[in-house]
Amino acid sequence: MSKRSRVFALCWALMFLLGGTGARAEQGPGACVTCHGFLGGQLARPIAEWDASVHRQVGTTCDSCHGGNAAVDVGNIKNLSPQEFEDRRSRAMSKSHGFIGKPSGKAMFAMCARCHGNSVDRYASSIMGMAYLDGKGGPSCVACHNAHNNIMPAVPKSCEPCHKDTTGFNRIDPMNVSEATINELSTIRIGLAEEKAKGAKPRLAPEFPEELDSYQIGLLAFAGVFVMFVIGLLVYVVLEKRR
Ligand code: HEC
Ligand code: HEC
Ligand code: HEC
Ligand code: HEC
Ligand code: HEC
Repeated sequence: MSKRSRVFALCWALMFLLGGTGARAEQGPGACVTCHGFLGGQLARPIAEWDASVHRQVGTTCDSCHGGNAAVDVGNIKNLSPQEFEDRRSRAMSKSHGFIGKPSGKAMFAMCARCHGNSVDRYASSIMGMAYLDGKGGPSCVACHNAHNNIMPAVPKSCEPCHKDTTGFNRIDPMNVSEATINELSTIRIGLAEEKAKGAKPRLAPEFPEELDSYQIGLLAFAGVFVMFVIGLLVYVVLEKRR
């Protein structure tokens, strides 16, 4: 091979490599990621989260959940006129291709049920699932599992926005809370309280409440003295009458 043809071969190989990776990027979730990535901000945030998710690894793409047409050819997105841009957007996010925007209520369950039928059934018939569907403040699927990075939620941290007492929450199944779970929970809590009582040292004297500030302590002392005074007065009055 001459020097010249070797350089030519190298260039050709480089072009092939670059062209190859370029083509592979095009085959991804396509139009959705290209345009949303271009838009940036809130509209691009789902991409970074989804990138690191189980769903991405198993090939669940934007359109698997949201519907629409990811195969629309957006072309060179930077050079589109406003009309061309709107045309690509409406063809990708098209209702006739089953596009779902931000789902809520039944639509949220239907979105996940396409692949997680059992989980959805379990949750939909639970106390919290019904409180969600009835608009009574129950958590949606994505209140616990982030919408775009469906991680397993930390329990009880993820429960704290809505529940004051989360004792024993890490020992129940939050996807399936029923009357039976509530009974189970009180058994767990009694058990935990007993364990705690056994572990604690016996107290010699009743503990003075620690949360009181000096003003409250003064007030308590005053109330104590006042009560003693009233009792003394009563005794005096009764004794006087007897005479
Ligand atoms: C050419 C650009 C473009 C393409 C392609 C595109 N989008 Fe969008 N998308 C937008 C813009 C702009 C908005 C914000 C305005 C709006 O809601 O219409 C948006 C908003 C959204 C929303 C939020 C809607 C809401 O109710 O808040 C979702 C979800 C969404 N897109 C999903 C998708 C999916 C899935 C695809 C691929 C099938 C896709 N988009 C393709 C431009 C695009
Ligand atoms: C596992 C299903 C699922 C996948 C996959 C998914 N989304 Fe979503 N997306 C949702 C749900 C559910 C919501 C509603 C979130 C909420 O109500 O808080 C949502 C909301 C959105 C919104 C509205 C703004 C927001 O963040 O709440 C946009 C935009 C969006 N998705 C774009 C995308 C894009 C782009 C992709 C692909 C990279 C994608 N989604 C992949 C389920 C999904
Ligand atoms: C197109 C199919 C599809 C849709 C739609 C879908 N998922 Fe998934 N999801 C999967 C697959 C496949 C897996 C990986 C295997 C598994 O754990 O079931 C997965 C995994 C998960 C996991 C992790 C499970 C684990 O064991 O780590 C969660 C949580 C999850 N999905 C929640 C959701 C929620 C919430 C929705 C609706 C907003 C949804 N998914 C919509 C296909 C889907
Ligand atoms: C109150 C918080 C909470 C809500 C709401 C919730 N999940 Fe879960 N989910 C969990 C926890 C915690 C786990 C792990 C423990 C377990 O398996 O029950 C889990 C497990 C899962 C799994 C793994 C397999 C399984 O069934 O155990 C999937 C898939 C899933 N959830 C999907 C959903 C979907 C879909 C919804 C809405 C219909 C939903 N989750 C609602 C907290 C929640
Ligand atoms: C968005 C708010 C919200 C979040 C987050 C939430 N819950 Fe709930 N939870 C509710 C509502 C609303 C009810 C129904 C109250 C009723 O009808 O009495 C409920 C009821 C329950 C009950 C049965 C009765 C009770 O109050 O003890 C249990 C147990 C429970 N949730 C556990 C959990 C666990 C575990 C988590 C976290 C993994 C969690 N919840 C996260 C709103 C929430």
